[in-house]
Amino acid sequence: MDTPETVITICMGSSCFSRGNNVNAEIIERFLRENKLEARVEVRGCLCEGKCRGGPNLRINGTLVQDVRPGAVVDLLAHALLGG
Ligand code: FES
Repeated sequence: MDTPETVITICMGSSCFSRGNNVNAEIIERFLRENKLEARVEVRGCLCEGKCRGGPNLRINGTLVQDVRPGAVVDLLAHALLGG
C-alpha cells in the first residue's frame, strides 16, 4: 500500500471527544470516502495531550489545530487536502 501523504490525528480523549471529535471523526471519514482520499490520508486516534482547554483538537501532519467545531471541519479538510 502507498504511504499516505497526510496523517490526521484525532484526539479521542474524553474532553475533545465529547466536545466534538465524536462527530468530527465521522465527518472526516465521510469526507475522505466521498472525495476518494482514503488511500492518501491516514486517520489515527490519540489519547489526551493535555490541551483540552482549546479542544476539540486534531493534528494534520503533526500541526495542532484547536477548536475544531463540527460545523467547520469540512472547510478545514477541503483547505488542507484539496487546496480549496
Ligand atoms: S482530551 Fe484532547 S487534549 Fe485532552
